[in-house]
Amino acid sequence: MTAIGLRREIDRFEARTPRSRELQKEAVRWLPGGSSRGVHHEPNPVFVDYGEGHYFYDADGNRYLDFILNATSLIMGHANPIVVEAIAEQAGRGTGFVGPNETAVRLARMLCERVPSLDKVRFVNSGTEATLNAIRAARAFTGRHKIAKFAGAYHGSHEYVSVSVKPPAGPHGPDGPPAAAEFHGQPPSLLDDVIVLPWNDLEVCERILRRNADGLACVIIEPIASTLGYAPARPGFLEGIRALTTDLDVLLVFDEVQTLRMSPGGAQEMLGVVPDLTAMGKMVGGGLPAGAFGGRDDIMALFDPRGGAAIPHAGTFNANPMTMAAGEATLKHMTPDVYGRLNALGEMIRGKLRAVFDELEVPAQITGIASFFSIHFNAEEIVDHGSASRDDAELKRALSLGLLNEGIMLGSTICTLTTESEVDELVDTTRRVIQRVRE
Ligand SMILES: Cc1ncc(COP(=O)(O)O)c(C=O)c1O
Repeated sequence: MTAIGLRREIDRFEARTPRSRELQKEAVRWLPGGSSRGVHHEPNPVFVDYGEGHYFYDADGNRYLDFILNATSLIMGHANPIVVEAIAEQAGRGTGFVGPNETAVRLARMLCERVPSLDKVRFVNSGTEATLNAIRAARAFTGRHKIAKFAGAYHGSHEYVSVSVKPPAGPHGPDGPPAAAEFHGQPPSLLDDVIVLPWNDLEVCERILRRNADGLACVIIEPIASTLGYAPARPGFLEGIRALTTDLDVLLVFDEVQTLRMSPGGAQEMLGVVPDLTAMGKMVGGGLPAGAFGGRDDIMALFDPRGGAAIPHAGTFNANPMTMAAGEATLKHMTPDVYGRLNALGEMIRGKLRAVFDELEVPAQITGIASFFSIHFNAEEIVDHGSASRDDAELKRALSLGLLNEGIMLGSTICTLTTESEVDELVDTTRRVIQRVRE
């Protein structure tokens, strides 16, 4: 039934997006697959013309209520006047200098005062660079070179985290999941240097970590796993990993590139588990390219260039005043009250979506926390990479396309401009689309 429903949604989508299709034909001539991003959308991507508030407009003039918000980075929506003003003012005064700027100091102070693990931070230009440098810091600090990451976890696109990001979803043995290369040409030594851990299985994690502790610099973990639909870990799991890493003298790195949007101090503040190092990105730059990493004073001292840094770390656009201005304007706006309101709306979305799928008797579950939500067409509890991978992919695609055809970009988060009315629009349209694709 869904196959016919899906076909109808594809036809509708093609009829709505002729200009995007034309642009895609031109794009594939010059960019592999027409893209520089990670995901391709069939039958053609929606080319964006401009964004305004909670909405963006495509090249065909269609308007979309946006629940992706550039991969969760736009916590204040598109072209928010507060951020635009800060960017415009800075653009008129210069976009980049070799010398430091005062805004970066203020933004660094704001982050350190808010995020429990941060004594000091450094700015970079992506979440990828943030996790890369946090790992590098952990290696230099401990003098060990192996790292541990979780099966199914995404931490950006550099080499050492490009292991077991989308591994086979089968059950793992008593020694945990094997490390799996992500693409051809990765050095074979990578699979010796990256230890893969199973999410939510503290017993197996403990066995693996104790066995490898001698050579292990750090464990990198997303405190709320975005690739598992933001389902919080089992009670005690994060605390267990913190206790184990402390016990084994291995550094704990939190990837808060996404989860910083959970509270002023990120997931670590909300969940009460404090890492040694934190990688950040996305909202830190108010919508401009951004990343930051930081942690304990004694570790971050490795980057101190006075007298020659133990880890030399240059970057033409690091702490550039444009990103700093947009980031500062955003963080200033994000007071505890604003986070509270945003997270309450997240709770509302999850509750209302659950009610719709119950009402329609569709086996689905809605996971998430704070301002994150995710729909799984899978009745089994989402506890690890395997359970998160089992989904009714056809129904999911039909829902995404159906929502696009109704002017909604399905994603996983909301912004400060979201009100109950946008929540209801998503919920009511979801009901209508599911009924339609099942007809
Ligand atoms: C959890 C997590 N870590 C790291 C990254 C990489 O960030 P960037 O895309 O800015 O390189 C992302 C990006 O989606 C992410 O979601």
